[in-house]
Amino acid sequence: MARMAVNLGGVAMKNPVTTASGTFGYGREYDAFFDVSRLGAVTVKGVRARPWPGNPLPRHAEVPGGLLNAIGLQGPGVEAFIADDLPFLAARGVPAIVNVWGTSAEEYAQVAAALEGKPGVAMLELNVSCPNVKEGGASFGTRVETFAEVVRAVRAATTLPIMPKLAPNVPDVRPFVRAAQEAGADAVSLINTLPGMAVDLEARRPILANRTGGLSGPGIHPIALKHVWEAAQVAEVPILAMGGIMDAKDALDFILVGATAVAVGTATFLDPLAPVRVLEGMERWLDDHGVADVNDFRGALRL
Ligand SMILES: Cc1cc2nc3c(=O)[nH]c(=O)nc-3n(C[C@H](O)[C@H](O)[C@H](O)COP(=O)(O)O)c2cc1C
Repeated sequence: MARMAVNLGGVAMKNPVTTASGTFGYGREYDAFFDVSRLGAVTVKGVRARPWPGNPLPRHAEVPGGLLNAIGLQGPGVEAFIADDLPFLAARGVPAIVNVWGTSAEEYAQVAAALEGKPGVAMLELNVSCPNVKEGGASFGTRVETFAEVVRAVRAATTLPIMPKLAPNVPDVRPFVRAAQEAGADAVSLINTLPGMAVDLEARRPILANRTGGLSGPGIHPIALKHVWEAAQVAEVPILAMGGIMDAKDALDFILVGATAVAVGTATFLDPLAPVRVLEGMERWLDDHGVADVNDFRGALRL
């Protein structure tokens, strides 16, 4: 069987598959479906300094090619996360990648400091690219200066590996990858959802209470693939890739263009077993194609 272990910026993952933030709760929600420690890591829903209610309902809409959401980063706040949610992942022994957000560089740093040294926390993923909150989120991730400021502030606040999550709605992700590296990031992840909208024609209203949302799912996979391929051209740090992974082939596409690990997101809403199905399919495909180690396949794209 192909060797699947990878190193994502200092996180030893026994295989390259994790979950996409916001689509897998805090891990425990999926315990009834499979042992989450089968995954290389579990990436949890965004955590900020204090509890946050998110956006009003409705905040989901199914659209051709995927899902539009405007959850607005609902969450219990970092202290409740540490007390109530983290112990499950620590007990399972699966590395937890904690997705962090805030409305200022200081808040990102505050959350990072609170998570320092907490059992189970393997890495911080910095959500500087959510399209669904007015402050913070994408407003940091679409300008190199503010993006780098957040990464620098978190770098100064923690010794944990850090991984900024890049926005897809920029002309070129490469300046962001370079800025992340200069600011001390250990890895980068991409892509977050793409800003979008759906309307109810008869009611003449937006479907989402927030009016606009973030598009995820199979329709964004080609966009994600292009961004990951371009990111890999300048990345000296490993890449965690996500965007529309529905099956093992989609995941391997990302490894082929240069990603070290992959995250399964929206697919999990259709099939709670999607992350394990993707993992097993990747192993089978690599075996069938005589690839002994997934790391040998990384960046093997022929041009
Ligand atoms: C319902 C939902 C909630 C999400 N919440 C977060 C979040 O809290 N933090 C974050 O960085 N990304 C969040 N995302 C973005 C995903 O992690 C991922 O980047 C995106 O959905 C693309 O992957 P996919 O097409 O496989 O879903 C969310 C996505 C969805 C669909």
